[in-house]
Amino acid sequence: MSVRNDIGKLHLPEVLDGVTSAADWEVRRQEIVALLAQEEYGPIPDFPCEITYEVGPNERYGGGSADYYQVTITVTTPRGSHAFPLSCVIPRAGRPCPAFVHVNFRGGVPDSYMPSEEISDNGFACFSFCYNDVTMDNADFTDGLAGLVYPDGVRGPHDPGKISLWAWAAMRAMDYIATLPAIDQKNIGIIGHSRLGKTAIWTAANDLRYSFVFANQSGCCGAALTRGAPEDAEHIDQICKTFPYWLCENYKKYVGHIEELPFDQHWLLATIAPRRLYVSSAEEDRWTGPDSQYRACVETAKVWEALGCVPGFTGPDAYPGGNDAFQEGYIAYHSRTGDHFLSRRDWLQFMKYFKKYRNQ
Ligand code: GCU
Repeated sequence: MSVRNDIGKLHLPEVLDGVTSAADWEVRRQEIVALLAQEEYGPIPDFPCEITYEVGPNERYGGGSADYYQVTITVTTPRGSHAFPLSCVIPRAGRPCPAFVHVNFRGGVPDSYMPSEEISDNGFACFSFCYNDVTMDNADFTDGLAGLVYPDGVRGPHDPGKISLWAWAAMRAMDYIATLPAIDQKNIGIIGHSRLGKTAIWTAANDLRYSFVFANQSGCCGAALTRGAPEDAEHIDQICKTFPYWLCENYKKYVGHIEELPFDQHWLLATIAPRRLYVSSAEEDRWTGPDSQYRACVETAKVWEALGCVPGFTGPDAYPGGNDAFQEGYIAYHSRTGDHFLSRRDWLQFMKYFKKYRNQ
């Protein structure tokens, strides 16, 4: 089966729109981010506030190979304030370390989705926060950060959904990390799994300080193309019914009308160009549409190639499976056996790629 042939049948909206230079691409890239904000996620909130960072006590981590502490990030507006913790594990390396920022489902260190000691032993700092500590993963827009952004909990059609609020928090984490001499500022990646993989890509679309993105099994409204989603994968009618609060209200108008979408998810991926993007799938995780994620990588690679970032993507014109990995391009992809999970095996692949292309 030819992936290219299958992509041809989808009649995807053209992402490059004639762009051939880096300067033109940045203009086009910003247009794409604005369109995705307007139609899909809502913009990253922009509201007057004061932000403080309170650094907690330092603890030895990993037998003294790293430092561990928490930073309390407090956001204050005339309406009130909200605080959430950022966990920090920084290797005692004696030189600036590359870092992951992990938007996670839980706040603990280590975590079943985050082998912190192993990450640190590989030379990476790891900053993480729990998305529910920012604003709860539900339809309540009076809770936490949402309560500060929305005076009465009511959203207009183009206002930010929860993904944009979690992305805002990842940008505030970056503001803190940007002050740390222990971190190699040119090599900071954002990582998330599933709904938080969607969040990771959208954060980096809006924040160029992230030079790597690792989107694990991000699926519908993440790395998977909306057009051509297979039967057993999530479609936008399902996501808009079950999780409408992740997105802006306006996105619902495309339910049953996906041919009217002026973009597809390869446009979201393209916003990372010319930086490094890693998309991953799990073979049994049919709901996230591994084939649709793969097609998006193949299609969006043309953006990197047009900018002279070659190879854009090295995956073949045939669908991968098992433990196939293609890591020689600006876009990397792996499949792994097993189901929906951010596993140690995924982290090992991500770290391998990050080490190889750090500073490139
Ligand atoms: C649900 C949802 C997905 C999401 C996933 C997750 O399955 O339909 O879109 O990615 O939850 O976050 O685990």
